[in-house]
Amino acid sequence: MKTVFSGIQPSGELHVGNYIGAIDNWVKMQEQYRCIYCVVDYHAITQDYTVKDMSPRVRDMALDILALGVDPEKAILFVQSAVPEHTELAWIFNAVTGHGDLERMTQFKDKAEHQPENINAGLFSYPVLQAADILLYKAELVPVGADQVQHLELARRIARSFNHRWGKVFPECEPKLTETPKVLGLDGKQKMSKSLGNHIPLTAIEEKPLRKLLGKMVTDEKRVTREDPGNPDDCNVYSFHKMFSTEDDRAWVWQGCTTAGIGCVDCKGRLAQRMLERFAPYRERRAELLAHPGRVDEILRAGADKARAIAQRTMAEVRGKLGLWR
Ligand code: TRP
Repeated sequence: MKTVFSGIQPSGELHVGNYIGAIDNWVKMQEQYRCIYCVVDYHAITQDYTVKDMSPRVRDMALDILALGVDPEKAILFVQSAVPEHTELAWIFNAVTGHGDLERMTQFKDKAEHQPENINAGLFSYPVLQAADILLYKAELVPVGADQVQHLELARRIARSFNHRWGKVFPECEPKLTETPKVLGLDGKQKMSKSLGNHIPLTAIEEKPLRKLLGKMVTDEKRVTREDPGNPDDCNVYSFHKMFSTEDDRAWVWQGCTTAGIGCVDCKGRLAQRMLERFAPYRERRAELLAHPGRVDEILRAGADKARAIAQRTMAEVRGKLGLWR
């Protein structure tokens, strides 16, 4: 059975883009593969953060992942820093990673631009730690969003150079993208992201806040008044209908929009309804977990024990290959 690994930074709240772009696959893949999912706090420290917020952010992220349907009976869920083998393998991988390869990483360039006062070595070698995350479990499939494809190419290169230099240990890993690996934000222009503030947090998928957020969503800009016909292909709201609505809904929107038969308010209303339906089980599971404090930590501890056992086997093999003193 193939092993699946994926990680997510503890940003505190998941949004629709995270779900549609990646986590949806986390949930689906656990039915078929050995899945290992990780909240990557050691990655997060490469960017500025408030110390007292870290633990709650990690716990909230884990809670959201569980609420979305990752099942601890089927998949392993744990926190990266609870398994120190991640950083150990990353150090070894540093020795087979090209400096030039890291310099080409677009996410590094973006982040360096975003926090010019704190361009630390961790930010630079971030993809090396990511390769270690995946390869520690010899994972072959990595469900991620489109922005991670470059990091996975690098992980493959690292695995190849390791195997070439010290002997075969690691498999090739490949990204597993969703049908919609890139979701645009409320602005309809840039990728949905918390830092851009154009996101729909999953916790906002409640009757009132959702309708309010969708109200702000940019539609086909050539459709100025209710009387103008619109072009759904130029409208981000329509692309959301593709993710959440039925075919009948989409036909209704298409017909209504192109003939000015319906307004954007009607179209968004239907979308809100479908999104509320889709996330009803999430809201229920979330409430259930919130009512049982301690449950999330228990799951994370049990997950770390399982992950550590696998990680330690890989590291024993790796240390042997390197010819280290023992
Ligand atoms: N870099 C990923 C992101 O920003 C998070 C991540 C860290 C990850 N380690 C990983 C994703 C391993 C997949 C596999 O989204």
